[in-house]
Amino acid sequence: MRDTKEKLSGLTIGLHWLVGLVMIGVFIVGKYMEINEAFFLYGPHKSIGILILIAVVARIIWRMKNGWPEPVSNYKKAEQIMAKLVHWILIIGTVLFPVSGIMMSGAGGYGLDIFGLELLANNPDPTNPMEMIPLNSTLAGIGHNMHSMLGKVMIAALALHVIGALKHHIIDKDNNLRRMLGRA
Ligand code: HEM
Ligand code: HEM
Repeated sequence: MRDTKEKLSGLTIGLHWLVGLVMIGVFIVGKYMEINEAFFLYGPHKSIGILILIAVVARIIWRMKNGWPEPVSNYKKAEQIMAKLVHWILIIGTVLFPVSGIMMSGAGGYGLDIFGLELLANNPDPTNPMEMIPLNSTLAGIGHNMHSMLGKVMIAALALHVIGALKHHIIDKDNNLRRMLGRA
């Protein structure tokens, strides 16, 4: 079923909440593990971050086939442009977050695995096996910078997104949020 003005398809709703909530969870874990040097969380952070790419790609293919959902009411032009801009930033961020993480860890020599299933071996320094030798330090550096920059951009975009959703629900009293919850 395709999205309509009145009702969103199960695929749009399911993928929105699966990707959205997993991204928020992985984000919180990322911040926590970095601040507290909680190294045991790096594995799950990376594994779930890689796995979510499957749903991210499925969602983008679905957006390309179905198009974007139509706004539920005739919002002001500026509001529509702002909402669309934020949707684009969020959806691009769902791709760039995992991709930059993969660049940082993979090219940094730390290896990649999904809960122990090895995708790329780590590259320890033979003279000091606790240290990893980057496979490509430029690529790893770009990935690292992108990953931390995205942290700031995505927090701002998500704040605008949630404020917008609440504004439609509480002030405009329209079906925008209900429709994304499958209740419209
Ligand atoms: C928990 C907080 C969230 C709430 C309350 C929320 C709410 C909504 C609502 C009501 C819509 C429909 C807007 C419309 O039809 O114009 C929507 C669409 C959208 N949201 Fe969220 N959202 C949340 C989290 C996220 C996150 C974390 C992301 C991405 C990282 C995201 C990305 C999107 C995108 C790209 C759309 C456009 C439609 C689509 O592709 O599914 N949202 N959101
Ligand atoms: C859903 C996707 C992801 C999100 C939302 C996310 C989010 C984050 C955040 C917010 C941080 C803290 C960065 C900071 O405060 O500057 C972080 C750190 C980190 N992430 Fe991710 N991440 C994701 C996927 C990945 C993937 C797929 C990998 C690797 C395969 C990865 C590897 C790392 C590493 C190694 C750090 C620590 C960086 C350091 O110690 O400087 N992330 N992540």
